[in-house]
Amino acid sequence: MSHNNPIDLVHLFTEELKLCKLQPQEVMVVLSGPQSRSDYVNAFMRAGRELGAEVFRLDLPEAPAVLGGAQQAANRSLLTGHQSALDTLKRAHLVIDLLGLLHSPEQIEIQRAGARVLMVAEPPDILARMFPRAGQRSRVEAGARRLAGAKSLRFTNAAGTDMRYTLGQYAPIDQYGYTDEPGRWDNFPGSFVYTWPNEGQSEGVIVLQEGDILLPFKEYVRSEVRIEVEKGFIVSVSGGFDAWHMRQYLQSWNDPAAYAMAHIGWGLDESALWHAMTMMNKQTSVGQDARAFYGNVLWSTGPNTDVGGQRNTPAHLDIAMREASLYLDDEPILLKGQLVTPDMAIA
Ligand SMILES: [Fe+2]
Repeated sequence: MSHNNPIDLVHLFTEELKLCKLQPQEVMVVLSGPQSRSDYVNAFMRAGRELGAEVFRLDLPEAPAVLGGAQQAANRSLLTGHQSALDTLKRAHLVIDLLGLLHSPEQIEIQRAGARVLMVAEPPDILARMFPRAGQRSRVEAGARRLAGAKSLRFTNAAGTDMRYTLGQYAPIDQYGYTDEPGRWDNFPGSFVYTWPNEGQSEGVIVLQEGDILLPFKEYVRSEVRIEVEKGFIVSVSGGFDAWHMRQYLQSWNDPAAYAMAHIGWGLDESALWHAMTMMNKQTSVGQDARAFYGNVLWSTGPNTDVGGQRNTPAHLDIAMREASLYLDDEPILLKGQLVTPDMAIA
């Protein structure tokens, strides 16, 4: 247990930075804010130095309070409005994001400038357990190739889900827990693959069952939820408590974009655990286990700015489903939660 055998963060991060191919003379910036873990900042700085890189920390202050309903404000990160900080990050080779730039236009701008960006938001025990393994990257890249070539995606489950997406407008995103290519983003840890539907082109019904997972609530669904989707937007959510919970969340943003169907894909990470949320600390984990566990179907609502779309909203649900089947152009990829293609099988 970690009490008796504490995780050596410098060693863990040195191994991670080697996967990211951090080179001597490269510039690595550790981006932090008021909520960032100082032990992560310090360990990444030491790990970067050990690999010979030029390393420094860029620490941003708390954002000013937004009066009159922060949820209605445009999607802002702590970096919004800090032009000189943004310029500095764009000149780095590797940005360690301990701030949480995900879904922000600033992150896209940093990537477009050529910096690789690594988000780190999980506690040490999850980073260690889900540390990127040999074979994961090739499986994820095989999944991304399949998504890139597909014109349609359909997923179903035994409870009556039958959901269809038309694909082709947006490129897939692959995540395998490190980044060694210019301009590429990843989140340490987690292996999964996804893309976005063409604008307005997802239709059908999703029926969540007991044991499916709602994020960012980090809650298991306990009662069936029926979600109807027309022309790319959720038009109804019905059922018991879990449906009410989801409806309240969606309504609270007062933003039509909250109801949009967003990324869709599947989990490929054999080290991620469906049941991890029963034991983890909700305050310190972002739930990568639920997003990545092998054989899930992960769908979401809200933004599509990650792939260059116009929906810049902070309203975002990730929903992980168990025992679902998923088809690309009618070819089965997952059947009842089992990967059925050899290119994504665990060796
Ligand atoms: Fe998401």
